[in-house]
Amino acid sequence: MLKIEENLNLETLPQHVGIIMDGNGRWATNLGLIRSAGHLAGVKTLKEIIKTAVDIKLQALTVYAFSTENWKRPHTEVDFLMHLFSEYLEKEKRELNEKNVKIKFIGRIDELPKSLIKQANDAEEMMVNNTGLKFNVATNYGGQDEIIRATQKITRRVLNGEIKIDDIDANIFESALDTFGNPPVDLLIRTGGDLRVSNFLLWQSAYAEFWFTDTTFPEFTPKEFLSALEDFGKRDRRFGTVK
Ligand code: FPP
Repeated sequence: MLKIEENLNLETLPQHVGIIMDGNGRWATNLGLIRSAGHLAGVKTLKEIIKTAVDIKLQALTVYAFSTENWKRPHTEVDFLMHLFSEYLEKEKRELNEKNVKIKFIGRIDELPKSLIKQANDAEEMMVNNTGLKFNVATNYGGQDEIIRATQKITRRVLNGEIKIDDIDANIFESALDTFGNPPVDLLIRTGGDLRVSNFLLWQSAYAEFWFTDTTFPEFTPKEFLSALEDFGKRDRRFGTVK
């Protein structure tokens, strides 16, 4: 088990952390490697972050693995990523299950390669009753797309006569999102130096605290992850009110 930093106050931890795992390609290119080598190194980092999240009993972790825009990347890189997700599931699902992790794939999963859909469904089914870390993998995910799909689901419920237009509130809206059952995102981490949200968890991070680092994802360590959590504990969260 990782030695938790002494100054980490477990009472002020966030419940739900989102991570934009950026900088894989640049990390690899700087080392004279192909971009995909960066994604491979990113898997190693992700495993360490999950271990840490389990150790500190984080409730939920959502990672941005592939956006709805990432299909525009070169075919070789897209293919590599799809194989990487597949291999990750094959190699890691047993250990994740032993750690009581509950995996869920969010996004337009039905547009992924058929074999990956099956592996994702199998892994979800395997962990469906687990009660530990909720680990959401955003794959073919876009925040705007998720909001559109939620709107479609709710509209269908209205047209079926199940609910009335005026019944639609934040709770009903949340129940139609891919992340239903997770607490709101309260800390959003982005590695790789860019200061933007890139269509990630738009609804869920309405009151999130942001934490940006120049460190690329392959170089991101559990220590830096914990320092982001520690910094979160010091933030003054007012949720629009005054104290
Ligand atoms: C963004 O970096 C990263 C991605 C599009 C892929 C993220 C995937 C992983 C970290 C692999 C592990 C994931 C799972 C679920 C097994 P980038 O390529 O845009 O980096 P750049 O900005 O330097 O080009």
